[in-house]
Amino acid sequence: MDESTKFQRPADYLYFCDMKIREIKLPEQPLLLAPMEDITDAPFRQLCKRFGADLVFSEFVSADALIRNVKTTLKKLHSHPDEHPYGIQLYGKEIEPMVEAARVATEWEPDLIDLNFGCPVRKVAMKGAGAGLLRDIPLLVRMTAEVVKATPLPVTVKTRLGWDDENKIIVELAEMLQDVGIAALTIHGRTRAQLYSGQADWSLIGEVKRNPRMHIPIIGNGDIDSALKAREAFDKYGVDAVMIGRAAIGRPWIFREIRHFLKSGTQLPAVTVGEQVDLLREYLRRVGLDTEEGRAVRSMRKFFAVALKGLPDFKETRVSLLRANTYAETEELLKAIVDRWGDYPAHSA
Ligand SMILES: Cc1cc2nc3c(=O)[nH]c(=O)nc-3n(C[C@H](O)[C@H](O)[C@H](O)COP(=O)(O)O)c2cc1C
Repeated sequence: MDESTKFQRPADYLYFCDMKIREIKLPEQPLLLAPMEDITDAPFRQLCKRFGADLVFSEFVSADALIRNVKTTLKKLHSHPDEHPYGIQLYGKEIEPMVEAARVATEWEPDLIDLNFGCPVRKVAMKGAGAGLLRDIPLLVRMTAEVVKATPLPVTVKTRLGWDDENKIIVELAEMLQDVGIAALTIHGRTRAQLYSGQADWSLIGEVKRNPRMHIPIIGNGDIDSALKAREAFDKYGVDAVMIGRAAIGRPWIFREIRHFLKSGTQLPAVTVGEQVDLLREYLRRVGLDTEEGRAVRSMRKFFAVALKGLPDFKETRVSLLRANTYAETEELLKAIVDRWGDYPAHSA
């Protein structure tokens, strides 16, 4: 790494201290699982936890739907005792429903409440929620202040650099959010206009971290898909924690791989396809505990696009997996995969 750009830790920074989000203690250089709609349900979070994710989040939860007791929304709040520390993420466009939703979410006993000011999806952002709030900073800050007052739990924020290239306001916004009492800030290094295109720009994340006025933990997010990139995030940009999203889909062991590398500087041997299939089976078993068979089986499809990636002559099997509707069909296919490709290395970091 270029020494001139290396992050300079303040003199009084205790390099070996654990990181804390208010009273939530995390190990040094924590690795967080990003909230992801339709991915980070409780069974998936439990797998990531087992592989060493230090803090996990629910899928985003609509404040309006939560206070109307919408059944599918309430289901998103279910968590398992193994998951702690665990955060519930809320989104909404108006202060009152967000405050009410924070009160309701608090009763579900997560360790923290996270506010989503980063979702770029049209149906969310164009209605003024998620990243849409980046176009009304006074409202965003007032909403945060009111939620902070409404719950005894730590409130964190996850957002982007700004609305678009001309409005990268994250450095000032971070100060404002800290001033109204948030306990940590996650920054995804893209603007709303970028959606998921291009590369995440970590330089502004580093700038927020270097701002001497900032004292809350800064969590960096965007494109971390390898141990080397995670190390760079800590060493070059000085973030307090790294949050991983897409790279964990179908590959929850990425947390173990990165942790091992950060500690030892060496790479773990690759996980095999056989081990990966066991994880898929376990995910399915856990989903099936409270979901009917067809829906549980279909919930696996999102993983088949990324899991089992790159296997030779796999196309036909993948198509069959995507068509399966029963446990028996799925198991038959998984068994065939293990028989044929079980010892192959799974796609890894
Ligand atoms: C399928 C999918 C669903 C997502 N859902 C959410 C969400 O519910 N809340 C949120 O804050 N971000 C959500 N995100 C954004 C991620 O949390 C993360 O900020 C983004 O993917 C960048 O990190 P990565 O490069 O590690 O994936 C989602 C991303 C993906 C790919």
